[in-house]
Amino acid sequence: MNCIHPTPDEPDFATAEMVYIDPQACVDCGACVRACPVGAIKPAERLSPDEMVFVELNALFHADSDVGNGLESPTRPPQAPVPPVVRLPERERLDVAIVGAGPAALYAADELLKQRRVCVRVYDRLAAPHGLVRYGVAPDHPQTRSITGLFRQIESQPGFSYRLGVELGTDVTHDELVETHDAVVYATGAPLDRRIGVPGEDLPGNATATDVVAWYNGHPDHVEAPLDLSAEKIVVVGNGNVALDVARIVLSDVDTLARTDIAEHALDALRSSQVREVEILARRGPAEAAFTVPELVGLLHHDDVDVVVPQRELLGGDDAKSRLLREGTDGEAAPGRRRIVLRFLTAPVEVLGEDAVTGLRVVRTRLETDALGQVRAVPTDEHDVITTTTVLRSVGYRSAPLPGVPFDPVTHRIPNVEGRVLAEPGGDVLPATYVVGWAKRGPTGFIGTNKACSLETVNHLLTDRTAALLVPAPRRLGA
Ligand SMILES: Cc1cc2nc3c(=O)[nH]c(=O)nc-3n(C[C@H](O)[C@H](O)[C@H](O)COP(=O)(O)OP(=O)(O)OC[C@H]3O[C@@H](n4cnc5c(N)ncnc54)[C@H](O)[C@@H]3O)c2cc1C
Ligand SMILES: NC(=O)c1ccc[n+]([C@@H]2O[C@H](COP(=O)([O-])OP(=O)(O)OC[C@H]3O[C@@H](n4cnc5c(N)ncnc54)[C@H](OP(=O)(O)O)[C@@H]3O)[C@@H](O)[C@H]2O)c1
Repeated sequence: MNCIHPTPDEPDFATAEMVYIDPQACVDCGACVRACPVGAIKPAERLSPDEMVFVELNALFHADSDVGNGLESPTRPPQAPVPPVVRLPERERLDVAIVGAGPAALYAADELLKQRRVCVRVYDRLAAPHGLVRYGVAPDHPQTRSITGLFRQIESQPGFSYRLGVELGTDVTHDELVETHDAVVYATGAPLDRRIGVPGEDLPGNATATDVVAWYNGHPDHVEAPLDLSAEKIVVVGNGNVALDVARIVLSDVDTLARTDIAEHALDALRSSQVREVEILARRGPAEAAFTVPELVGLLHHDDVDVVVPQRELLGGDDAKSRLLREGTDGEAAPGRRRIVLRFLTAPVEVLGEDAVTGLRVVRTRLETDALGQVRAVPTDEHDVITTTTVLRSVGYRSAPLPGVPFDPVTHRIPNVEGRVLAEPGGDVLPATYVVGWAKRGPTGFIGTNKACSLETVNHLLTDRTAALLVPAPRRLGA
């Protein structure tokens, strides 16, 4: 019925924070409710009181125009429409190595296995597959993690096999993979943290969201607690969904967390945590917040945590995030309650301390819209110091260079044009080498965003194959 928006050919398909059902077009057949692998679509009559706000948001989305009425962030660029599927000639055989076993890899494998004679080998350095779905998605989001049911279906298709515990650069090289496969697809994600770029960022007492997330999810490389839980207050820089995840998990009731699949070592450490307040700093305003509407709605209804916005004067906007914050938060927390304090128009200048963190010097910002329509934070001369012994940066992720594989040190990605890897940034196409997911686009987007991204790359791979651009693998491996 084409009643779910944005559709793949609408501009914000790949970036929308939630889907919207057009009440005029929907015939209540329930097909989308049954098909959604993570149970994200529910009939209105099955929404809990906390979820009823989605009915209002859905109505607002359809009130003025069909798409792009301001509910989506104007700062996120629109994406290209999803391309049509390319078909390989019937008798063509294709062996593909995919490096990385996260969502982008699984979606790429699924697209490839829609062809007849394709064999896909998925390599990952870790012993367990699924990338950030296993080691990133918060343990209190079990519905999101249920996407692994879809991944298991993909893995069970003929032609699919895993090579787990195999690291590119240590256990196998790019040249070896090219030699034994018709094509290699890199799906290695963006495992490193980005830096803020202020003095004092390496003092003891600094921690990264990358490490904290990996720690509470039981990533084998992150067993030690990366932050001091004896402090009463933690300051987080950046207000994306990862910042909300970390703040929520650190402040949640441990008995509730014990019913999730949080790592045992993290649960043990959180049992004696003294943290009562997490202050989240954003250099821009509420309307430009990097967290998404569904995550904010979930947080505002959290049983254990109050969300506080002391700068009430900033909540006058008509956008969805300002409205939700205006109506769903107070200027201060109820006494004794654990709280997340959202502070806006505040940018870090310096992490203070001699031998360890004692505070964070910040500057008040104001917003300016540049020639491209981007809302930017500009520092004023109003400074302040926030006292804390723990500063946690949550300012995004970045890819790591892979031995023998081109890398762009400026964008921190594998250089590519629509998934075809370039020998160097701006250079020629490297034969038989492709990239998908965060290693291709950078560290933004939801699990589902990787589906359209992988389809685009696989279509180019298949087009190149049919145009005989791929050199057939000189020696083939067994399945
Ligand atoms: C903390 C966090 C929480 C998130 N929560 C959600 C959520 O709730 N809902 C949502 O929709 N999206 C969420 N996302 C976004 C989502 O996880 C990403 O869009 C998605 O995982 C990116 O997929 P990917 O395959 O590109 O990368 P990844 O998922 O990172 O997969 C990359 C894989 O490559 C492997 N690898 C890396 N280097 C090598 C090497 N040298 N050799 C072999 N293997 C290698 C890694 O081990 C990993 O398995 C979250 C992201 C983060 C960071
Ligand atoms: N539940 C979910 O669906 C879920 C959960 C987790 C992650 N994800 C997705 O995964 C992706 C990554 O999330 P993320 O939270 O790591 O990144 P993100 O959404 O890109 O947020 C990064 C935050 O860091 C800020 N920042 C960046 N550089 C800074 C600097 N130098 N100084 C101060 N602030 C700085 C950004 O501010 P500006 O906005 O001003 O640049 C922004 O607030 C996102 O697309 C996210 O939606 C989804």
